[in-house]
Amino acid sequence: MNSLIKLAALNITKRYGDSVVLNNVSVNVKQSQFFALLGPSGSGKTTLLRIIAGFVRPDTGKILIEKKDITEQPPNKRNTAMVFQNFSLWPHMTVFENVAFGLRLKRLPSPAVEEKVKRALKMIHLQEHIWKKPQQLSGGQQQRVALARALVVEPEILLLDEPLSNLDAHLRDQLRQEIKTLQKNLGITTIYVTHDQKEAMYLADAIAIMFNGNISEIGSPEHLYKKPCHIETARFLGQLNELPGIIREANNSIYVVETALGNIQAETDQIFNCGEKVIVCFRPEFVQYPANENVRNRIECNVVSYEYAGSIINALLKKNNQVFRADFSPSLLRTPEIKQCVVGVDARDILLFRVLL
Ligand SMILES: Nc1ncnc2c1ncn2[C@@H]1O[C@H](COP(=O)(O)OP(=O)(O)OP(=O)(O)O)[C@@H](O)[C@H]1O
Ligand SMILES: [Mg+2]
Repeated sequence: MNSLIKLAALNITKRYGDSVVLNNVSVNVKQSQFFALLGPSGSGKTTLLRIIAGFVRPDTGKILIEKKDITEQPPNKRNTAMVFQNFSLWPHMTVFENVAFGLRLKRLPSPAVEEKVKRALKMIHLQEHIWKKPQQLSGGQQQRVALARALVVEPEILLLDEPLSNLDAHLRDQLRQEIKTLQKNLGITTIYVTHDQKEAMYLADAIAIMFNGNISEIGSPEHLYKKPCHIETARFLGQLNELPGIIREANNSIYVVETALGNIQAETDQIFNCGEKVIVCFRPEFVQYPANENVRNRIECNVVSYEYAGSIINALLKKNNQVFRADFSPSLLRTPEIKQCVVGVDARDILLFRVLL
């Protein structure tokens, strides 16, 4: 991936009546990047994608492709292709005709249409279904046809709006893998809308987190998961233990924070002052059992309950009346009858967030 900005949405605002659906939103998407827009239902993801595709006009702001302002251009002049949230194949057309549609609009000669459609269908493993109608296909196959229909026109930018949301878990995993491989092989700049944090983290090079028409944070999946700037991001991306705390000692980048679990040590580059109120957070999967030898935080606790979930054991632990969650590996915890244990949390796995007054 190179660093050329392929697509920029600059200061996009969109209102419907009194409600502000997008509030001065900006994103930069690099050439060949897989960029995810991730947020809860109603946060404005589809609206932003439709504005990028040209189906919705922003009230203010600009859309640029390679620095060229395309805000006033209609969708078919933008060199983008979109797969819609409720994938809409034409039911009376065969798979072939559905995929060929965009090429026919471009008035490509028939032999070229045939060759491109067959190549696109081969890419998504549907060559054998070429003469079927959509209702003769499974949901996953229909979703693949929608993908082929977008890819066949060789767009500069591929826009996907929750393309896996209508599929069962197994098919979703399979198609997700295929989309990732296809995107990397073709090097096509892709913007992918989803409300599923795991899907975004698995697929994307960069994720923009959206809440209520705002982008709260943009970063790589790993950075957003491990070192988010906002507690809302941390909460949205996975399970989180949260404890109110007060900074008691600050020593270079190591902070000692008083909490209901006792003193917790956190290592961070952020700057806090002694006496400052914070929220101490850590993810259940970063709780070590057994605790590593030199871990800064060792917590003696009682076990309240276990839930066996196959690949992990979700445990509820308690110390000083403060309950917290831990995910244990079934390979390490073979005797779930234990009533007490000592767990560890690395100081680098503790997140501190300021309490905003
Ligand atoms: N044409 C419209 N007229 C009025 N309100 C709209 C219109 N389109 C979207 N909205 C509103 O804008 C907000 C954002 O909608 P949008 O479809 O962008 O959300 P989303 O993040 O894609 O949600 P989901 O995950 O449920 O698909 C919602 O409150 C929605 O009701
Ligand atoms: Mg949507």
